Amino acid sequence: MAEVVIVPSAAAAGVLVADEIAALIRRQPDAVLGLATGSTPLPVYEALRPRLTGIDVSRVRGFALDEYVGIDPHHPESYRSVITREVVEPLGLNPDLIHTPNGSLETIEHAGDDYDRAIADAGGIDLQILGIGTSGHIGFNEPGSSFASRTRVKTLIEQTREDNARFFDSIDDVPMHCITQGLGTILEARHLFLLAFGENKAAAVAGAVEGPVTASLPGSAIQLHPHVTVVVDEAAASQLQDADYYRYAFANKPDWQGL
Ligand code: GLP
Repeated sequence: MAEVVIVPSAAAAGVLVADEIAALIRRQPDAVLGLATGSTPLPVYEALRPRLTGIDVSRVRGFALDEYVGIDPHHPESYRSVITREVVEPLGLNPDLIHTPNGSLETIEHAGDDYDRAIADAGGIDLQILGIGTSGHIGFNEPGSSFASRTRVKTLIEQTREDNARFFDSIDDVPMHCITQGLGTILEARHLFLLAFGENKAAAVAGAVEGPVTASLPGSAIQLHPHVTVVVDEAAASQLQDADYYRYAFANKPDWQGL
């Protein structure tokens, strides 16, 4: 079962996860991070910055979860741009070691295979940060995605395009297609951190953690992974039936256990 940690705020979640990432980089300077976009992971990146002071990050490697297909990589809302702006630059990472799936139309037919191969060549992802969409998607794996899926092109559902329209001038500007790590790819990362904040994520979180394992709610794939930490605020935890147990278990966690 995933460990569920209920925190008072998104900022507290950021601190919790950033401490783990900083510790990972300290003991393994060439760690491979699985990076997520969207608003959810921003408190993690913010909290990480002061924690990396004095730590050599020049060998840290990273792989983003997903990218829009056909978007100019220099567009401010391409995930390449977002990762550069929110992660690479503020944390001082080496941009050559940080990868996003290639959404360019010229190479799209083999871009998924190329990406999975690059992750494998790096030795796999040590720590994967995940948000969750209101549809229950992780990465851009929309409902119906196979649990065995690899990095590939998907069609975004209307709800996701509406959710992401806030980053663009209008919903018509939100690309229709994306390239995303598959659920099978994500499940190969060694430690998953799934974060969610706010009431509008409560149903997706409850489904992912406690619901049946079903392709209809792709986030439920985390139940198949041996090492998952779900970090949520009270609002996002509000539909969890066993919230009291999660609080009790975390409060009584043995010190030696770690996350
Ligand atoms: C986006 C991303 C996901 C992200 C999710 C939630 O579309 N592709 O990786 O986790 O939707 O976004 P947010 O964190 O902004 O709520």
